[in-house]
Amino acid sequence: MTLLKVKPVSAERLPELLRRMPKAELHMHIEGSLEPELMFALAQRNGLAMAYPDVASLRCAYVFDDLQSFLDIYHAGTLVLRTEQDFYDMARAYLVRAAADKVLHAEIFFDTQTHTGHGLSSDLVITGLHRACVDARAEFGMSASLILCFLRHLSEAEAFECLEQAVPLLDKLVGVGLASSEMGHPPEKFARVFARARALGLRLVAHAGEEGPPAYIWSALDVLKVERIDHGVQAIKDPALMVRLARDRIALTVCPLSNLKLRVFPSLAQHNLGRLLDAGIVATVNSDDPAYFGGYINQNFSQTFAALGLTAQHAYQLAHNSFEASFIDDAQKRRYIDRLTATFETFD
Ligand code: ADE
Ligand code: ZN
Repeated sequence: MTLLKVKPVSAERLPELLRRMPKAELHMHIEGSLEPELMFALAQRNGLAMAYPDVASLRCAYVFDDLQSFLDIYHAGTLVLRTEQDFYDMARAYLVRAAADKVLHAEIFFDTQTHTGHGLSSDLVITGLHRACVDARAEFGMSASLILCFLRHLSEAEAFECLEQAVPLLDKLVGVGLASSEMGHPPEKFARVFARARALGLRLVAHAGEEGPPAYIWSALDVLKVERIDHGVQAIKDPALMVRLARDRIALTVCPLSNLKLRVFPSLAQHNLGRLLDAGIVATVNSDDPAYFGGYINQNFSQTFAALGLTAQHAYQLAHNSFEASFIDDAQKRRYIDRLTATFETFD
């Protein structure tokens, strides 16, 4: 694809360009945007006790060895969510932050099974999140849509039940995804659930190759028939897979600060984002669980660019990829990409 040839931008000015650049965020878990301050406020509103005495001591607990050690804490944090208004407030807080980071479009993951497991209804969860998306459009002029993620450590039958509960609310969802503990839970476990979701007209994505092997990316593509891969950074171990991803323009929603905090890479300087782009892969930058991993989307951009020495041309490519890989219609994609191009053409 021919892209704008971007004027060089100095290292000093690049962070400002990254901040101002219009972008889409395609991989963030709304429950992972729940900041400790809001968590304490919701606990108080709902008359619940917190396991930590204050915000500072809770933040100190955010040190992880791997995905599972994070998921345990992440799950504990979701216990404060009890009402439709709680889900609205959580999504609202993220959307305010995203709009400030020049996110023009967000595709937001949520996992109903976490909340139905706490006795809440799917309806309450989806209605609260969706109301925040509708308000964000009116107030910030940004678009936002919802992707229901199945929890892969649970059974196929439970995923089916979750999907069927969402059927009356299908107009509030754009797609389904697959999240939670990857190792030992290959995508093919959910082949029939994804086939049903596809038949319902939903778009399909899945986490694969975050910690797990390239084989999980192959089966997400060939068995689940997903359109994007969440993370996918382990694809680099399999040259044939790299060729397939580039050839079919399968986007990877990469989350550099998440990969750093969950020790997928020992440092950001060793992250493979630059190599993925060099291989012609449609990579994007995203925040995953920003309240836990030390940064929202713009911090993911600025820290990764500084660590890898990426340029304004890479920035344009990544933002362009984010719109290209999104589930918005072509006319809207065109409008967003035109705004992106105008920002680069007028930046100095
Ligand atoms: N749920 C929330 N964040 C996740 C991640 N990084 N991988 C898998 N499941 C998740
Ligand atoms: Zn994720």
